[in-house]
Amino acid sequence: MKVLNFGSLNYDHVYEMAHFTMPKETQSSLSYIRNFGGKGLNQSIALAKAGLEVYHAGKVGSDGQDFIDYLKRYGVDTTYLKKDDEEATGHAIIEVCEGQNRIILHGGANQSIDERQIDEVLEHFDKEDVLLVQNEISNMAYLLDKAHEKGLTIAFNTAPMDDKVFTYPLDKVDIFIVNEIEAAGLAKCESQDVDEIIKALQEKYYDKKIVLTVGEKGSYYLQKDILIHQDIYKAEVVDTTAAGDTFTGFFLASYLKDGDIAKALDLAARASGITVQGKGAAQSIPDISQL
Ligand code: RIB
Repeated sequence: MKVLNFGSLNYDHVYEMAHFTMPKETQSSLSYIRNFGGKGLNQSIALAKAGLEVYHAGKVGSDGQDFIDYLKRYGVDTTYLKKDDEEATGHAIIEVCEGQNRIILHGGANQSIDERQIDEVLEHFDKEDVLLVQNEISNMAYLLDKAHEKGLTIAFNTAPMDDKVFTYPLDKVDIFIVNEIEAAGLAKCESQDVDEIIKALQEKYYDKKIVLTVGEKGSYYLQKDILIHQDIYKAEVVDTTAAGDTFTGFFLASYLKDGDIAKALDLAARASGITVQGKGAAQSIPDISQL
């Protein structure tokens, strides 16, 4: 079994702020740093740090060689990561304040992934393999269709959640990985109550495997009438960026290794509890030996 993560890569411009900037306000940051990020890259690093062999497919601009080197440093296979001289690498503007963040995304090269690149990459994978995707690259519907046609198991982290998601062939997804906001959007549930969201997910996606994270309230696994809960591991929160990506990577790596859901939720909770204690995205993801 090979794991293919077809996902975004962003330069994260991270500004530490006294408060989140208001409309019409100009304020100086307390500090600035540029990091490697993107939900795709973060999840590949998390999968690799959790001990899985992972192939990262995607696209960076002419300024993106550093991403290739960075992924390689963690043992991620970058054979299918394309460099396009006519595009700029994607980037994110991230305000961090009291552990919380606000993110503006600019897709750049992530949004120029075309059918040709998807076909070329999928040629190297087949029905024993697993595809992980997030919602930060172009041509998602085509990618899901083709991967399903080839028999790959599809895990979809619907982040960031938007209306485009409903234009994708969601029936072809095997595992959804969502936080409570994404889950409410996906299940078209008006309520913010976790029990209501779970009920709505069970109604609309009864056959699907769903991993749901709910911040302080921990996480759940749902499938048909199965419902498993996992508490969080309490930690001093410095920056939540990439906590969800860490959860996704560690859950999937552990689940794919031995199919033990409770163990996978526990490992993912422990790993994301460490990520929130560090600044930045990929760099704050722990190694399995730290857990
Ligand atoms: O999940 C965190 C990530 O979201 C950041 O690294 C940023 O690039 C955005 O994609």
